[in-house]
Amino acid sequence: MTGRIRVGVLISGRGSNMAALLRAAQDPAYPAEIAVVLSNNPDAAGLETARAAGVEVRAIDHRGRDKASHEAELKTALQEAGVEVVALAGYMRLLSPVFVEAWRDRILNIHPSLLPKYPGLDTHRRALQAGDAEAGCSVHIVTEGVDEGPVLAQARVPILPGDTEESLSARVLAAEHKLYPAALAEFVSRRSGRR
Ligand code: GRF
Repeated sequence: MTGRIRVGVLISGRGSNMAALLRAAQDPAYPAEIAVVLSNNPDAAGLETARAAGVEVRAIDHRGRDKASHEAELKTALQEAGVEVVALAGYMRLLSPVFVEAWRDRILNIHPSLLPKYPGLDTHRRALQAGDAEAGCSVHIVTEGVDEGPVLAQARVPILPGDTEESLSARVLAAEHKLYPAALAEFVSRRSGRR
């Protein structure tokens, strides 16, 4: 028995994807455990959600300092928690190549579009403006580029007549909450087979 893979979750705000990962990891049969939740934003609502779930949380504010020192502190916190895999969940800072290299192929992200379509922000507005028939979300490995790394899993939802950014984002978010725990489980299961 090798135990569950320890995951560190990075958030910046609401943390609903983080909450979905926490819920999944409450099942002892889930192959990952959430070892720590870190936020660059001390006011992130997700910190309270994680705290209430009994998970170690740390706010590591990025303001008033350079990126290297902020990321060094993140790295120390992740190492202290014994983290093997990092899951970005609404983390709104671009990670530097140095950080990405240190965790190469061990950082996942969830993005609210069917990548490679619509990397970056305002994905739902762009899908609506383009007249797309469907939207969705992607879990991918983080590389140096923005929302560019290899896609591990996707979920699709229809775009319905009369959809607004709000209605579409709610439909996609519900899909995110199922996709991320499933994709993370598959990813860590493959990793634990190798360790
Ligand atoms: C989600 O739509 C996620 O795909 C994107 O940022 C949003 C974060 O929402 N990366 P939440 O903080 O998980 O509720």
